Amino acid sequence: MSQENKKFYQQTRVERLDTLVNQGIISDSDKELYQKTPLLTEDVANSLIENQISQFPLPEGVALNFIIDGEKKVIPMVVEEPSVIAACSNSAKILSRNGFSTSISKRELIGQIILKDIPDIEAAKLKIEKNKDQIFTLAKEAHPSIHSRGGGLKDFYVKIIKDTTITDKEFLTVYLLIETKDAMGANIINTILEGLTPFILELTNGASLMSILSNYNTEALVTATCEVPLTDLETKNFSGQELGQKIAEASLYAKLDPHRAATHNKGIMNGIDSVVIATGNDPRAVEAGAHAFASKNGRYQGMTNWEVVEDNLVGELTLPMVLGTVGGAISVLPLAKSNLELLGVTTSEELSRIVLCVGLAQNFAALRALVSDGIQKGHMSLHASSLAIQVGAQNEEIEIIANQLRLAPKMNSAIAKELLMTLRDK
Ligand code: MEV
Repeated sequence: MSQENKKFYQQTRVERLDTLVNQGIISDSDKELYQKTPLLTEDVANSLIENQISQFPLPEGVALNFIIDGEKKVIPMVVEEPSVIAACSNSAKILSRNGFSTSISKRELIGQIILKDIPDIEAAKLKIEKNKDQIFTLAKEAHPSIHSRGGGLKDFYVKIIKDTTITDKEFLTVYLLIETKDAMGANIINTILEGLTPFILELTNGASLMSILSNYNTEALVTATCEVPLTDLETKNFSGQELGQKIAEASLYAKLDPHRAATHNKGIMNGIDSVVIATGNDPRAVEAGAHAFASKNGRYQGMTNWEVVEDNLVGELTLPMVLGTVGGAISVLPLAKSNLELLGVTTSEELSRIVLCVGLAQNFAALRALVSDGIQKGHMSLHASSLAIQVGAQNEEIEIIANQLRLAPKMNSAIAKELLMTLRDK
């Protein structure tokens, strides 16, 4: 079959890269980089972590069919789990009539100065609040360049932190809201915090417990929504109305039961983390913030909302999302830069919007499968190639064995081995 007649997933890796070049999604030089999948240079690897002994490759693929705020997007994803990328692309296709819409209110990060052993905690709180001008001046002096670019300290508030069911100790915490533009911002925030801490200590006569950014970014919420006509959900075995209703009930159930919520959210993070990793961002920071937000009502809950509204299924995902497009690992990982180019994003906000849509698409795929045919069918079909490789199939044998496994009544490594032996005996 010629390349033009093959679907993207049927093409070889190099053919896929050619397709992306022909569609103007990647440049020739990026194609070269993807094709080589270079190791990091020794210098870069050593500068990123300590005690480095090797490098650990993971596969990268692209999810297709996304329309986000009216623009077509091809999404790079780095992930080791089969079916994540296929499910994501398939969801985006089903949801493509209206695509995804996104919104962001603002992007301010939070730094905390946490104080202890304060003689008069109420008076100390008031004193900090009254010294607003001096706090803003010191923040500017601590990091002039971010302030000159329109970022830096935007606001602050002070809270007495106590819970007598846990301890009699009281703490006083200053929450600083800081805009870091397109950087992930850890260094900017920590520099401002360090600049302010001595003055805050002087005001309060207390001791410092610590000063550090918070990964619970409640002042950087991003929302993705989608709306699909119920008729677009129809399958061989289910009406669109029935599937839409069950997807809505599945999201409702994840609000009620933390055991289900954890799995529901894991599926969302399958999509989110894959893009976060592909762009050189920190998935642990994103996970920590997302799960804290999932507990904002005092109970750990599913992160998405799906509802049937008239003849449509409407989905929504809101999460704190602070990502960078410059600085840190992003600037030294060669593929992170190429992946940002592939996405066509330069700002942190654009990247955050895309990541939320991928999370919502991934959740839609999981719920749609779970409330209809079950997850195993699709999973196993995609698992067939890895099973073939596991039992030693090579080159064209892999697809032959995988196809035979898909048709077999059961799929496991013993059957895969048998099929491979029969193929080789022919
Ligand atoms: C598997 O990686 C993710 C799912 O379990 C998510 C879910 O149950 O919603 C399929």
